[in-house]
Amino acid sequence: MVITGASSGIGREAARQFAGRGSSLVLAARSEQALRATADEVEQLGGTALVVPTDVAEWPQVQALAAAARDRFGRVDTWVNNAVLGSFGSLIDTPIQAVDRVLQVGLRGQIYGAKAVLPMMREQGGGTIIGVSSVLGIRSIPLYVPYCIAKHGNTALYEGLRVEEQIAGSGIEVTTILPATVNTPFYDAVPSFMDTRPPLIPPIYQPSAVAEAILYAAEHPRRRICIGAAGPMSACQRISPRAVDTVLRGAGRLFVRKRPQQPDAGQNNHFQPMSGSGATTGRARMAFPRSRYTRTVGFHPGMARTLAAVAALAVARRLWKR
Ligand SMILES: NC(=O)c1ccc[n+]([C@@H]2O[C@H](COP(=O)([O-])OP(=O)(O)OC[C@H]3O[C@@H](n4cnc5c(N)ncnc54)[C@H](OP(=O)(O)O)[C@@H]3O)[C@@H](O)[C@H]2O)c1
Repeated sequence: MVITGASSGIGREAARQFAGRGSSLVLAARSEQALRATADEVEQLGGTALVVPTDVAEWPQVQALAAAARDRFGRVDTWVNNAVLGSFGSLIDTPIQAVDRVLQVGLRGQIYGAKAVLPMMREQGGGTIIGVSSVLGIRSIPLYVPYCIAKHGNTALYEGLRVEEQIAGSGIEVTTILPATVNTPFYDAVPSFMDTRPPLIPPIYQPSAVAEAILYAAEHPRRRICIGAAGPMSACQRISPRAVDTVLRGAGRLFVRKRPQQPDAGQNNHFQPMSGSGATTGRARMAFPRSRYTRTVGFHPGMARTLAAVAALAVARRLWKR
């Protein structure tokens, strides 16, 4: 199994959870120090780890990552495209270099990952590609526009690719993971163009809730799995995008007026990784370790359809009674 962005946050927690199952893992990110720390955790938990420092924005490096995985383990059963960069601030204030970098890593990096592993999986007769997108891959929000563009691109990539592979009968499964806010070091590494650190929009989940969904998808391919509020948010966007606009406008104005007094850390990970050994979680004081929504609806799409049908019937009955 290959995981990009394995040195921090969700990717690192996924590596830890797979390690607990005795998996053989190829860990990719730019910081060799943080990858080695992750590899130590993986091995303590019973897994095997190969560290391959990689910049996913560089196509030859992603090809080399796929080749290193095959050379070491003979095949790749699962490839998790997870690496990311973000930026915080309105588009007008975000330098074009930052916009480019967010798209290079978050969008192009995921395309490169899929392109690098597809021929190998075709040759093997199957495999699973898991793309970590976001609720912001369904609905774009203010102050995160470049990131939202990358995440919409991720969702588009996997929607189309999944059907292409079904047409080809390749045995390659494709699942998109759509988390809501997750308590990871992401928020301390994002460059802010507003002089303040980006806030975490509640409800907040621990990386364990997303890693659990990645683990599930490796064994039970699904079209998409939403974590936490991502599910209801995507339903609201489908029912009334205009109502979502109104909520976002209100929240955006409030944020701009009340700007929290948390200074930006002044360092970011756009052109080099953060220093140190990395971490799994961020600094949120309260975060849910699991998503009940994902466990009931995300892992059981039949249940989701039944709940939607019951809700539709209830609404229809109410309207009929009027
Ligand atoms: N945190 C959230 O609220 C949230 C919500 C929804 C979706 N997600 C998604 O979850 C995924 C993981 O996010 P996270 O919160 O865990 O982020 P994170 O803690 O900031 O981790 C990002 C990872 O990407 C790696 N990375 C950054 N640039 C890279 C590059 N050029 N080449 C290779 N690796 C690179 C980082 O390592 P190096 O710096 O060492 O390269 C790190 O391992 C992302 O796809 C994100 O969009 C996150």
